[in-house]
This record gives sequence, C-alpha cells and structure tokens, in this order.
Amino acid sequence: MITTVTREKVQVPLLDLRGQWEQIQAEVMEAIHDVCASQRFILGPRVKELEERIAAYSQCRHGIGMSSGTDALLAALMALEVGPGDEVITTPFTFFATAGTVARLGARAVFCDIDPVTYNLSADAVEDFVATQCEPRLGSLVNRRTGGRVKVLMPVHVFGQSAEMDRLAEVAQRSGLKIVEDAAQALGAEDRNGRRAGSIGDIGCFSFFPSKNLGAFGDGGMCTTNDPELAARLEALRVHGARRRYYHELVGGNFRLDALQAAVLLVKLRYLDRWTELRQENARWYDGALECLGLGERLTSPRRLAGYRHVFNQYVLRAERRDALREHLAGAGIGTEVYYPVALHMQACFSSLGYRPEDCPEARRAAGEAVAIPIYPELTAAQRQYVVDTIAAFYR
Ligand SMILES: Cc1ncc(COP(=O)(O)O)c(C=O)c1O
Repeated sequence: MITTVTREKVQVPLLDLRGQWEQIQAEVMEAIHDVCASQRFILGPRVKELEERIAAYSQCRHGIGMSSGTDALLAALMALEVGPGDEVITTPFTFFATAGTVARLGARAVFCDIDPVTYNLSADAVEDFVATQCEPRLGSLVNRRTGGRVKVLMPVHVFGQSAEMDRLAEVAQRSGLKIVEDAAQALGAEDRNGRRAGSIGDIGCFSFFPSKNLGAFGDGGMCTTNDPELAARLEALRVHGARRRYYHELVGGNFRLDALQAAVLLVKLRYLDRWTELRQENARWYDGALECLGLGERLTSPRRLAGYRHVFNQYVLRAERRDALREHLAGAGIGTEVYYPVALHMQACFSSLGYRPEDCPEARRAAGEAVAIPIYPELTAAQRQYVVDTIAAFYR
C-alpha cells in the first residue's frame, strides 16, 4: 500500500520505495540468498554481469562498478590524471559531489551558468568561457585569469534529461578537453541523436543511490567508457591502483561495488524500462494537469527537449513563492524537495574560488525557484490528482 489514508489525510511522500519492494521482494531475496550462499562479497561474477549489462544498456563497451556515484566521479577524474593546476568546467546547479570530487583532487572547478529551460549546463556559457577567458598555450587550454590548465568538461544530466551533448562535445573537441559525464541521475536518458547518457564523453559516471531510477540497497555506482585503456585504469584505481594484487602502478582507493548490491541491481534492472515509462507517464499527466491550472509564469513545468529521452529522476517545477508552496504541500501531507537550494558557486567551501552570486545568475535564480514533486513509478492516479489539487488551492 503506497497511499496511507489516515482519518482524513492522504500522504504522498516525495519518494516511497515500498511499492517497488513489494513487486520484487521474492526475486531480490533469492538473489541475496545466492550471494550469501556463495560467501563471495567483493566484486566477483555478479558485479561483472552488472557491469556488462549497464554498459550495454548505456551503449558503452565497458562498465566498471564503483562504491558510489561520488567514487565513480573521483575515479574518473583520477583516471584522467586531474590534479593540482588543472581545472574542470562544470555546472553550479547539481549535487555537491560533481564539484566536490574536483576539489578533493586539488583541482579547480570552473562554474559556467545553466540553461534556464533545462537546468543543464549551458553550451552557450561554456563556449563563451572558452572563447573569452581561455587561450591555447603549449597544447593546453589555459584559463587566463588563474593560469590553470583547463582539462575536463563535466556536464551533468540533471534530473534525468541529457545535457546538450552534441554542442558540448564539439567545444571539448575543439579545445582538447576530456569529457566526464555526470550521469548519476540519468541512466537510460538519450540526447537528440539517441545517444545514451554516459556513452558520449570519455567516461560516464552513474549512481545507484536508493533514490535513483535504479537504486541499490545502499550505496553503489559505475563508470562507463568506450576506451579500453581508461577501463583498465579505472579497474585498477578501484583496487588501490593495483592491476596485479600488491603491485601498485597507481595510487587509487577502495572504490569497489559489492556483490550484494550488484545482485539487487541485476534484479531491478529487469524492471527499469517499465519504471521509466511510468515516471514518464506521471510527468505527461502532471504537464497536462498543471497546464490546465493556467498559472502561467507562476508555475512552470519542466520542459523536455524535442527528441530527447528524459527519464525523470525528478520532476522539477519552477514556482513563485516556492517556500510557501512547499509549506502548504507539507501541511497537506505531500513531500517535496529543493534540488538545489544553494548553487555551488555560492557554497561556503568554494568561497576561495572567488565567485560572486551574480556570476551564474540562472543557477542562482533556479536555486530560489525550483521544487521537486513526487514522480516515482508507483504513484497512484489519486495521489497525482491530490498533488495538483493541493497546488491549485495554494495559488487560488
Ligand atoms: C548529479 C549527481 N552527481 C553525483 C552524485 C553522487 O552519487 P552518490 O550519492 O551515489 O555518491 C549524485 C547522487 O546523489 C548526483 O545526483
């Protein structure tokens, strides 16, 4: 039962995984039992099978299981030898890990603004940064202001819609930048050319955090790549840089995905396309119902770019009086979340980078207006209707 009907209140949490659990419980318990019976918990055949399946699902040649999406990003940047003196162009409107991993390697995050329609890194902003603030020097692209070597472009396919990868890839190619795709929220998303998230750049990074479309029973992640050398480096990096046990060619970490998570994910992967269709159906229904409210600029639904496959990890509205709306919905038993209340260029820990609030105005505006409403596959028609009716009552 997903809808909890108390005496007079319907409850609609932002995400409720219990319905999913009911569908798959028997299969998952069997898969877990098999791992327990084998007593092989670290890497092993299930991780390998998941790697092959996620790689194929994402149109990639190699998948390398990682302990989380964060570790996938960290390992990807390590594989590309990002370190002190290097810079990574990315978006300020994302989960912290995107830029946090850059900083952990002693490199510098360069924030370019977002496209206000999709919330994704703006290709115009990246082109403008490269054209006006960088110059080629000795085969590298150098940021004139900092003297740093701009090495990687890291777009994020935020909320489940691919960034404009054809344009971004063109800038990267022209400027000699590597691409790490943060596809944590976007397993199965496609751009206008039908290319799947994680297959376009040099390395794609996925998260299996429980709230993702394919969620583990804990933490998990994966890197994907078409480059066999990068795949081999990533495989080594996740086991402390050893290609042969106890012989360390690189300094890596313990970034391994474990067999129990892989076993759970293999079961869930069979359902992923159906769950994605249900998310898309919920999104279409919300689009129509919210449009009928006629709220115009006061409430804007998320826009799908033509020809893209949006997998709707989140359905994010832009709302006037966002915080009051959230309170109203919370009072009615409806869960919402703000992804993301503080654009990364404004985070305290990045103050030394010297950004001002006005540097990425669209990211800052989105941080004040965006609100995610429930979109999970098992949401019932009655719950969706209740969410929309409650929103309508707020603006009435
Ligand atoms: C865009 C983005 N990047 C990176 C991550 C990090 O993934 P994880 O939570 O698995 O470490 C997440 C997930 O929370 C994310 O949404």
